[in-house]
Amino acid sequence: MALVTTKEMFEKSMKEHFAIGAFNVNNMEIIQGIVTAANEEKSPVILQVSSSARKYAGHRYLMKMVEAAVEETDIPIALHLDHGPDFETCKSCIDGGFTSVMIDGSKYSFEENIALTKQVVDYAHERGVVVEAELGKLAGIEDDVNVAASDAIYTDPDQAEEFVKRTGCDSLAIAIGTSHGAYKFKGEAKLRFDILQKVKEKLPNTPIVLHGASTVIPELVEMCNRFGGDIPGAKGVPDEMLKQAGQNGVSKINVDTDLRLAMTAQIRRVFAEKPSEFDPRKYLAPARDAIKETVQHKIHDVFCSSGKA
Ligand code: G3H
Ligand code: 13P
Ligand code: ZN
Repeated sequence: MALVTTKEMFEKSMKEHFAIGAFNVNNMEIIQGIVTAANEEKSPVILQVSSSARKYAGHRYLMKMVEAAVEETDIPIALHLDHGPDFETCKSCIDGGFTSVMIDGSKYSFEENIALTKQVVDYAHERGVVVEAELGKLAGIEDDVNVAASDAIYTDPDQAEEFVKRTGCDSLAIAIGTSHGAYKFKGEAKLRFDILQKVKEKLPNTPIVLHGASTVIPELVEMCNRFGGDIPGAKGVPDEMLKQAGQNGVSKINVDTDLRLAMTAQIRRVFAEKPSEFDPRKYLAPARDAIKETVQHKIHDVFCSSGKA
């Protein structure tokens, strides 16, 4: 199956009330782990690349690795730019074969975000590429954005309706309480499902995206900490909340931190158990297996996209 856009997978997700995992990729082992899991689960999957990941791996290498993944499987795979910071980066990914881009104008004013998003949408749609935009502000640290928890802003459902109408974006990332990284909540995890519901009432046909949606899986945090330095303040979104989100209108759930934890836990374990190890395959193969296991759990037990390919 060829690389696809997210259009059909999102239509199915909205009709059948499940979510699609969008997993951040940086290298070959991560791509292989994710794609093997999705293929075994017969699930559609989104491979997403941040601009710093694209710089790290190199555009050509990424494209060739994703091409190999597409050739080796028969599931729908979309290649998506995560948190595109500007028009030029989006254009470069669109011209270079990505099937989906995110333009993240959430740091700008409402009107500036609309103007920038519209510019990307016009360019992308002429070339058959779909666009994710963001309205509202998540707390946390990502590529070019560092938002303090006090500056996070929940998405306004009325604004969301106007935003989608005026930009023509294909999907919308909203802020309902998640944040990027390993530390998402001070006390009890809390997501504003009331805002999600209002956004869906205003935009029943727009796929909704949840960023900062790692569970920060306790077993992985524990393993990372057991074999190395502490992960500071780890606290994420519990599986039940993500499941609820998928059943209530969230079509795309973004996961990076959990994959970092899965990979790091195994690599730390290998070195703790055998400090003399120096064959990269001996620590990268268990890391790849752990990515696969983590993704499979999410697809099968949380996002409920197994068999939806
Ligand atoms: O939300 C952002 C992702 O976690 C990507 O992080 O820019 O360090 O690759 P990165
Ligand atoms: P996490 O840090 O919760 O994995 O979020 C990843 C993300 O939103 C990528 O865009
Ligand atoms: Zn994000």
